Amino acid sequence: MKTINIGLMGFGTVGTGVVRLLSEHAALLAHRVGTSLRLRRIADRDIESPRPVEVDPKILTTDPQQIIEDPSVDIVVELLGGITPTRELCLEALHRRKHLVTANKALLATHGLELFEAASKSRVDLGFEASVCGGIPIIRALREGLVANRITSIVGIVNGTCNYILTKMTQEGRSFQEILQEAQREGYAEADPSLDVDGIDSAHKLQILASIAYRSYVDLRSIYIEGIRAVDPSDIQYAKELGYRVKLLAIAKEVGGELEVRVHPALIPEDHLLASVGGVFNAVLIEGNAAGSLIFYGRGAGQMPTASAVVSDIVEIAQNIVHQRPSRPPHLPEITTVEVSLKEMDRLRTGYYLRVMAIDKPGVLSKVSGILGEHHISIASVIQKGRREQRTVPVVMMTHEAQEGDMRKALAEIDRLDMVTGRTVCLRVEGSHT
Ligand code: NDP
Ligand code: HSE
Repeated sequence: MKTINIGLMGFGTVGTGVVRLLSEHAALLAHRVGTSLRLRRIADRDIESPRPVEVDPKILTTDPQQIIEDPSVDIVVELLGGITPTRELCLEALHRRKHLVTANKALLATHGLELFEAASKSRVDLGFEASVCGGIPIIRALREGLVANRITSIVGIVNGTCNYILTKMTQEGRSFQEILQEAQREGYAEADPSLDVDGIDSAHKLQILASIAYRSYVDLRSIYIEGIRAVDPSDIQYAKELGYRVKLLAIAKEVGGELEVRVHPALIPEDHLLASVGGVFNAVLIEGNAAGSLIFYGRGAGQMPTASAVVSDIVEIAQNIVHQRPSRPPHLPEITTVEVSLKEMDRLRTGYYLRVMAIDKPGVLSKVSGILGEHHISIASVIQKGRREQRTVPVVMMTHEAQEGDMRKALAEIDRLDMVTGRTVCLRVEGSHT
């Protein structure tokens, strides 16, 4: 039986994990595939620094193009990250009829259609299990295990770095910046960590999940995105006192025939299934009309969990080669036939947490609640944090379900009041209605 040759582009955090698995589990993987998997070439800018795994120096190169051009390479594994020159390298690999495995959600969310079309045209496989939720086999679950369902909602914690930061802020009250640096040292964060903290990485993953679940290519630009930079430790603390946790959620929900796709921090009740998901862990709650509620939980980032998902794709593709099975039908282009109308954010209905920074004097509350009332927003509870006559105090409010557009108009008016001294913090509440 022919050995399957693998060309690895990117010998960084995840690439190193993949090399480790391919070498440490070589016999097991050969048994599962039916032939051996051989690392034919590895490309990385840095081929001098020692790695915690031994490789034959002769297979190392600084030029990824050499992998693409090597006729003996059957499967190209892209773990370079970024868009340029990664997109061009991947497209060329597919045009040269090489199977492709990638963990690059940024690339898939922005150029997925083009890549899937190229794979389809060349009749090769494109595996991307590692692109969402690291070690959790969520793509296979949605694409295969839940194929018989109409998916009504996906609510997930899909960014390990943000969850790590929010968990540490909740438990230890340390600063955002200090915790982010820790997440970077652990290899969880993207090379550009603003992708994590500004919610963009979560949106990339949501784009992939929603496109599979709703069989319609969801344009990344239609996803509402808010990150966690503005989440203040005091809001995490107040939320905790009220029985909530703050999480960065990626949400795709079908409501009245329309699809909501959004990423933002949200308060969830402390007894919600996602509330106890801490640290770098990810979890996704999926509602299917036949299967009911399912929760997928595991390590969403880091070297070995992500490598586990990458190697699962390599093995599946290698098995296809060994058994001469045709490549799997492309997953994304076929779905463009289904039309889904997306709901505008202004029409979203949810509960809200508000922190109004107001001068502590009589009449303030009635002014604020009057404005909310005029915009059809009903208050569920109010707490004034502390007493500082004629000075600014935080007034924390929870509202019943209201419409986002009304809330925006009300906040604009509230923030114009003389007695309000700073911009009102507004966080959505998910998982129960106040
Ligand atoms: P790293 O930055 O650790 O590794 C990427 C490696 O590729 C680096 O050594 C980089 O070198 C090298 N590289 C990048 N571009 C080139 C190029 N043009 N030519 C040669 N070498 C190049 O990233 P990760 O391993 O963390 O991530 C890889 C991919 O996996 C990304 O798409 C990421 O989003 C995804 N991913 C990562 C997860 C994680 O937990 N880390 C989890 C899930 C997905 P240099 O450093 O010099 O740029
Ligand atoms: N930076 C990403 C995260 C890596 O923190 O979740 C996994 O996709």
